[in-house]
Amino acid sequence: MTLLEGRTAVVTGGAQGIGLAMATTFAENGAKIVLGDLDPGRTQAAAEELKAAGHEALAVECDVTSEEQVNRLGDAALETFGRIDVWVNNAGITRDATLRKMTLDQFRAVVDVHLQGSWLGTRRASLAMREAGSGAIVNISSISGKVGLVGQTNYSAAKAGIVGLTKAAAKELAHLGVRVNAIQPGLVYTDMVRALREDIIAAKLAEIPMGRGAEPEEVANVALFLASDLSSYMTGNVLEVTGGRHI
Ligand SMILES: NC(=O)c1ccc[n+]([C@@H]2O[C@H](COP(=O)([O-])OP(=O)(O)OC[C@H]3O[C@@H](n4cnc5c(N)ncnc54)[C@H](O)[C@@H]3O)[C@@H](O)[C@H]2O)c1
Repeated sequence: MTLLEGRTAVVTGGAQGIGLAMATTFAENGAKIVLGDLDPGRTQAAAEELKAAGHEALAVECDVTSEEQVNRLGDAALETFGRIDVWVNNAGITRDATLRKMTLDQFRAVVDVHLQGSWLGTRRASLAMREAGSGAIVNISSISGKVGLVGQTNYSAAKAGIVGLTKAAAKELAHLGVRVNAIQPGLVYTDMVRALREDIIAAKLAEIPMGRGAEPEEVANVALFLASDLSSYMTGNVLEVTGGRHI
């Protein structure tokens, strides 16, 4: 398929998990890929994987909590590929704890990566896209931001904040040809989920009408839809990819 032929896509947190799945799906649809992630070695290895499959890819060391590094990620994309058509704010961490135990540092760390990082990315992407008169920004929220989950007051707050950011940015940028949408995944089999206790995973599975978690590619396909012209009349929307959980 060639849904993103000739376009450049930036994916934060793209070295593994859902981010790498989105990058791979976009590349298979013709996009040139820019991966921004913390660890230069892992990010470079992911870019090499894409290149070995015949795609164009660039690895950039980027901590999304840093204004300077997010801006540099955008600069690197423009210098190498000349344009930014798609930007996915995907980088993420968890620091789960109940209110009784959660520290201010744990709260701030999660809000800084998810909410501030998505804002920095949205701002950087929109500067390039408004000049080009087109672009699609995809923000990765979570079902935790819709319903609130125990032990995740930091994560739920940040992921709900991403919904507000998405809608406000969508309204600001619509007349410039730039669309901004979000995805709320449920349980997706990545390192983030594999780190959970087995009884916690089992409790989550019991809530899912489809009876299983998602493969990262199942989120990536929805991101492809939002990144491409298939969703040309959609902006400010939040799509749930949860197997029917918490509908
Ligand atoms: N896995 C799930 O079930 C699930 C569910 C809902 C939402 N999400 C969201 O999907 C996104 C991807 O999660 P995943 O499951 O692939 O996790 P993952 O842990 O497999 O990958 C996250 C990536 O983000 C990178 N990252 C972390 N902090 C960063 C920072 N400051 N700057 C740049 N990169 C950073 C990590 O290095 C890693 O490569 C996250 O936003 C997560 O909150 C995941």
